[in-house]
Amino acid sequence: MEKQIHRIGVLTSGGDAPGMNAAVRAVVRTAMDLGIGCVGIRRGWNGLIASDFVQLDATSVSHIIDKGGTVLYTARSEEFMTEEGRAKALSTCKLLGLEGIVAIGGDGTFRGALALSRQAAASGYDLQVVGIPATIDNDIGCSHYTIGFDTACNTAVQCIDKLRDTMQSHERCSVVEVMGRRAGHLALYVGISVGATAVLIPERDVDFDRDIVEKIRQARLAGTTHYMVVVAEGAGSAADIGKRIHDALGLDPRVTVLGHIQRGGSPTARDRETASRMGYMAVAALASSRGNCIIATQDGRIVDLDMEEALQMKKSFPMDRYQILEALTLSGSHRS
Ligand code: F6P
Repeated sequence: MEKQIHRIGVLTSGGDAPGMNAAVRAVVRTAMDLGIGCVGIRRGWNGLIASDFVQLDATSVSHIIDKGGTVLYTARSEEFMTEEGRAKALSTCKLLGLEGIVAIGGDGTFRGALALSRQAAASGYDLQVVGIPATIDNDIGCSHYTIGFDTACNTAVQCIDKLRDTMQSHERCSVVEVMGRRAGHLALYVGISVGATAVLIPERDVDFDRDIVEKIRQARLAGTTHYMVVVAEGAGSAADIGKRIHDALGLDPRVTVLGHIQRGGSPTARDRETASRMGYMAVAALASSRGNCIIATQDGRIVDLDMEEALQMKKSFPMDRYQILEALTLSGSHRS
């Protein structure tokens, strides 16, 4: 039988991502619609430990759907990784009368949520958690899409289009580092979108001669006089790659690290719409006693997956897109 839920908490944790605010808004507005009270926990899991919260109602989330960052602030909490830290967090949950928590973030956020729910259960406290995937890296195993990816890709594409204008004018080589410590989704998507000469990703071993020197050489032979190399931060440092290009080919590359600019900005329609649907589904899951789940996208549909099982899932990297990139660029090996 469904248990009536009276109050839930919502928080954002880990690296911020454009669209997190749209998700917070959807969680709060859905809760209000279902007659459930909602408390905003500030600064991620640290907020639960430190009892740092704010009461939310339908109007407190007005005019945030278009805002980048997160109005609830975010953090990566070391203390929450410990049993003692989670015990402090549980005290706050009990004091506030929370029966559910919606945690918006990445894998680490969800693992923390599950650990909290289990620790609560061990003491006879039923605290259900729901995860909403939000990271510009798009690297969450159970979800085809994560909130923030589209905005970050568009930001990087806009920056690289500008770089291309000046590289083309000076007939130069540009080496651009995009975010992605462990994942190359952003680099590959952006690389295809800007028609990059070469893209380096952490999922593929880098062979400098094959992946960079030959690509630039083939592009030159095909008539190009400017080159765009996109590097995921997890695949190497742009500064180092620029120097090696100089040494190997005698070019004078310009290096740009896009960095945190990719995490900011007003979310795109795709991120707002996905965040809105996921926030709605998260509260609907709690309200119908289907907690301890992750709201994910699978083939365009939004589904709720058992959290423990979802955390075991691995996302296969779309290597076929790497082949598409190579087929479409003037540096493609078919032109040798
Ligand atoms: O949010 C994920 C991510 O953007 C990674 O791509 C990047 O390596 C990392 O966060 C940077 O984190 P920080 O904000 O701690 O520098």
